Amino acid sequence: NIDAQVQELLAKMTLEEKIGQMNQYSGFMDFTGPEPDKGQAATKLDYIKKGWVGSMLNVHGVENVRAVQKIAVEESRLGIPLIFGFDVIHGYKTISPIPLAEAASWNLEAIKRSAKIAAEEASAAGINWTFAPMVDISRDARWGRVMEGAGEDPFLGSQIAKARINGFQGQDLAASHTIAATAKHFAGYGFAEAGRDYNTVDVGTTTLYNVILPPFKASLEADVKSVMNAFNVLNGIPATGDKFLLRNILKDQWGFQGFVVSDWDSVGEMVNHGYAEDGRDAAKKAVLAGTDMDMESYHFIEQLASLVEDGEVDENLIDDAAGRILKVKFELGLFDDPYKYLSKDRENELVCSPKFKDEVLDIARRSIVLLKNDNDILPLQKSNQKIAIIGDLAQDKTSPLGSWRIAADDGTAESLMEAMQAYEANNTLNYAAGPQLIIGETKFVKELNVNTTDRSGFDEAVRTAKNADVVIMNLGEHGLQSGEARSRTRLGLPGLQQELLEAVYKVNPNIVLVLQNGRPLTLNWADEHIPAIVEAWQLGTFSGSAITQVLYGDYNPSGKLPMSFPRHVGQLPLYYNHLSTGRPNDPNQNDVFRSHYTDEQNTPLYPFGFGLSYTNFIYSNFKVTPLTSSNTIEVTVDVQNSGDMDGTETVQVYIRDLVAQISRPVKELKAFQQVKIKAGESESLSFTLTEEDLGYYLPNGEWIFESGEFEIFLGYNSQDTNSKRIEL
Ligand code: IFM
Repeated sequence: NIDAQVQELLAKMTLEEKIGQMNQYSGFMDFTGPEPDKGQAATKLDYIKKGWVGSMLNVHGVENVRAVQKIAVEESRLGIPLIFGFDVIHGYKTISPIPLAEAASWNLEAIKRSAKIAAEEASAAGINWTFAPMVDISRDARWGRVMEGAGEDPFLGSQIAKARINGFQGQDLAASHTIAATAKHFAGYGFAEAGRDYNTVDVGTTTLYNVILPPFKASLEADVKSVMNAFNVLNGIPATGDKFLLRNILKDQWGFQGFVVSDWDSVGEMVNHGYAEDGRDAAKKAVLAGTDMDMESYHFIEQLASLVEDGEVDENLIDDAAGRILKVKFELGLFDDPYKYLSKDRENELVCSPKFKDEVLDIARRSIVLLKNDNDILPLQKSNQKIAIIGDLAQDKTSPLGSWRIAADDGTAESLMEAMQAYEANNTLNYAAGPQLIIGETKFVKELNVNTTDRSGFDEAVRTAKNADVVIMNLGEHGLQSGEARSRTRLGLPGLQQELLEAVYKVNPNIVLVLQNGRPLTLNWADEHIPAIVEAWQLGTFSGSAITQVLYGDYNPSGKLPMSFPRHVGQLPLYYNHLSTGRPNDPNQNDVFRSHYTDEQNTPLYPFGFGLSYTNFIYSNFKVTPLTSSNTIEVTVDVQNSGDMDGTETVQVYIRDLVAQISRPVKELKAFQQVKIKAGESESLSFTLTEEDLGYYLPNGEWIFESGEFEIFLGYNSQDTNSKRIEL
């Protein structure tokens, strides 16, 4: 029994060794030199030998991991193995779509398979713990990390969190192809004020309980092994030192058995937040609050022993924290074999293995969202077409990997141009890059040098487009324009791309705009003028083929947006599941004293859940029936594929609790089903909603179901719905 083994081991450990388990270092370092600028002579290497390090991050590859693990196992007194963490967010070297894109697939099985492949490949490279999934709900596209989550909805976000955790951790955590997962960032990180990364978060407890926390709770249901806390202050208290979040809710109320890792130096950053006096105070506050492992602030290893000796921190808390970490190491099987992830043969066989291609390409295709397709300009004809491909991004083999491409080498994604050239069609392709999107470095530079002045390439692009039958313009964000620390205040096409789009449109309006981006963009002009728009995000290693197969109609697009696309950045935060104001706007009435903007509509350009197909789906026979079991209802509908192409539709069910103790959202997603329907055929679907779906959290955290009237909506997306009322 693992708990007994943990206790037995703890009994043998010195205080320093127990604190050592709570200490995590990054591998960006020289193992043999003195530790840089932290004022201590000891090296990280020496600390591992002393048993004062429990985990490493950013050490990967069998040889590297083995070298470090060997020191811990063979040279430290108790030989306790290290756990090796890494940001395997959407793949290790074989890169899947960015998580926001995967969320657009609304396909939980495919998302789970993608995480499973990431675990298989990363574990073959020595990794046994990933800092994923990010389950932060995000309503503000200015925040660069929206690319890393599942979007704005807590129900969809919870389902996807579970799928990802199940994919990473599998049935058997001790197997050498599965890895421990991390639900992050606990909590509220996605609500950074004004979308500026690391910024203050101030939300009421209604939003906390009903919107922010559900995906974390769902992660615990999926038995997630660790939770990462967050950089931000939540309602005045840094999440890393927030006892209410970490102890009261996570550990006590929810009974979390895994461990809490800090974010990078988030323990130390509590000094900047003005919540801790110095490193010692920060270590104390973090541990008292319930942070178990310190990532790279060094304050735990430097301060905790004396805090215990001085009676400021109870040693039981250290035992609890170290015990939680050891438990996961036992569960991973590291005590049975600390080298179990370290087979060079397995690494050679699995890293970048072609066997992953079909699945990773599959999730990439499923992630694509068709936003517009007037006059059936898509799919493209396969012969006798002169096709112009325009845009710097179309030939870029790095950008589609997106942010957090982690171990993937630059230049390893298939570009759109490459895939279009390789596709067997009897068309003529002509390419022009147009102006460069970004000049110079993209990685770890504070200001990306977006090109706004150099128009060389403009004329050639316009010339190339002029005589084409159809123009494919691949525009959007470079892969590193979204992600951590990549907040933006403007959400239009960056640089000269909008100008280019308009210039090309003047000579040839027959344009298919293929977007590559890590967040919702503002696309009003394009929506008004461009006949076809394909949201292709950053789709990873097989981006080019995925897009090409959709453009040629070999794959009928089925993605639906997991985030609302605003009309203007001034609308943010924008989300479909908002409350009603006392003066809801009625666009048909000329009444100024209504909740509205004088210069823009309230609604998004493309709503949450929106996405088109090359075929049409017609819903009929929508019924809402109360079932005999208490407060349970059945929603049924027939869905017909009325077009002449097989297709996949995601039918969405939303509710509104019309009168409640607190104001409830105008719509909340509570169920969805994805069905593949052959051309001309129909499917009957049935959904069951129970009290669990119809209840909510009061501001004090108490969950309740209240009888009364509910409106049940069924639709193609969050806006285009029919509804029926029911009394329960
Ligand atoms: O996992 C990440 C986290 O999401 C942001 N800060 C750094 C961590 C480790 O790389």
